[in-house]
Amino acid sequence: MLLTIPNLYGKSFLAEKDFTKEEFVYLIDLAMKLKDEKKHGIPHRHLEGKNIALLFEKPSTRTRCAFTVACTDLGAHPEYLGKDDIQLGKKESIEDTAKVLGRMFDGIEFRGFEHNKVKMLAEHSGVPVWNGLTDLWHPTQTLADFLTVKENFGRLEGIKFVYVGDGRNNVANSLLVGGALVGMDVRICSPESLFPATEIVELAQEFAKQSGGRVTITSKVEEAVAGADAIYTDVWVSMGEEDKFAERIELLSPYQVKMEMIEMTGNDKVIFLHCLPAFHDLETSYGKNIHANHGLTEMEVTDEVFRSKHSKVFDQAENRMHTIKAVMAATLGNME
Ligand code: CP
Ligand code: NVA
Repeated sequence: MLLTIPNLYGKSFLAEKDFTKEEFVYLIDLAMKLKDEKKHGIPHRHLEGKNIALLFEKPSTRTRCAFTVACTDLGAHPEYLGKDDIQLGKKESIEDTAKVLGRMFDGIEFRGFEHNKVKMLAEHSGVPVWNGLTDLWHPTQTLADFLTVKENFGRLEGIKFVYVGDGRNNVANSLLVGGALVGMDVRICSPESLFPATEIVELAQEFAKQSGGRVTITSKVEEAVAGADAIYTDVWVSMGEEDKFAERIELLSPYQVKMEMIEMTGNDKVIFLHCLPAFHDLETSYGKNIHANHGLTEMEVTDEVFRSKHSKVFDQAENRMHTIKAVMAATLGNME
């Protein structure tokens, strides 16, 4: 595959809005190439000898493992620094920590709460910083989701991409702006009180104007899912808002992704996506707790949909690794 290469060397990856459509699509296509190389055992050690810091203030399975494996495949050394391992913002300011890490590491991944922290790390470290999720955006997730869409439909432009659920969380924000950036017909479907913030909708509308995409924000499920190519949902309660279960269950129960919703699309080829982890059965202590307190056996998606032929959630999870690899290679790698 021949790729036109935008120069992303030295650039941080904090949010979709900081990239052009060509740059964003290039990262997806590069991930496709790296995935193919990995499957065929072709080495791609674009980060030989580099050291990468992985900062996590919130727990993670996919993002942490994706960065770790991607570093190893690229020839770099990953160093995991959990919330109690360093003094970030506690005994040492973000600015000072960023300066120290930048003297030792060649790149930094950050997962945490305030988006401002990842911005400050990028501003003061002098090395590329990659956002592994903040309260505002989850851009490496968007890349993996769109790679999965491209693998299934061969394109991104014009894809009817429906996000159903909590319309103002990090994943919804990222998909809304990212989808508009690449020219999708993005539809966010949630109760009005969980509509995305006005400035995020306006940003998406601006991008859609340039890309030929479309943006719809609606509370009406039937209208949103008509003709959908992809239905996406995320947890109803994100990390850090665990006091909101009762109100979210009340608000979001009509937005649960079930087989009737899949059938309502009128498209037998529709795919179901979820960033994971998902609450779709009672096989977790978290699920059992919610069942005991609120009576639910499934939450944002039914087990039937989760395990159906429509579900591509584990392809998506794998694609986290290939796309994160592409981001690190493009912004820090020797791509000759
Ligand atoms: N989707 C995602 O970011 O998963 P983790 O929280 O496990 O990293
Ligand atoms: N919105 C979720 C995404 C998890 C990957 C959260 O922030 O908890």
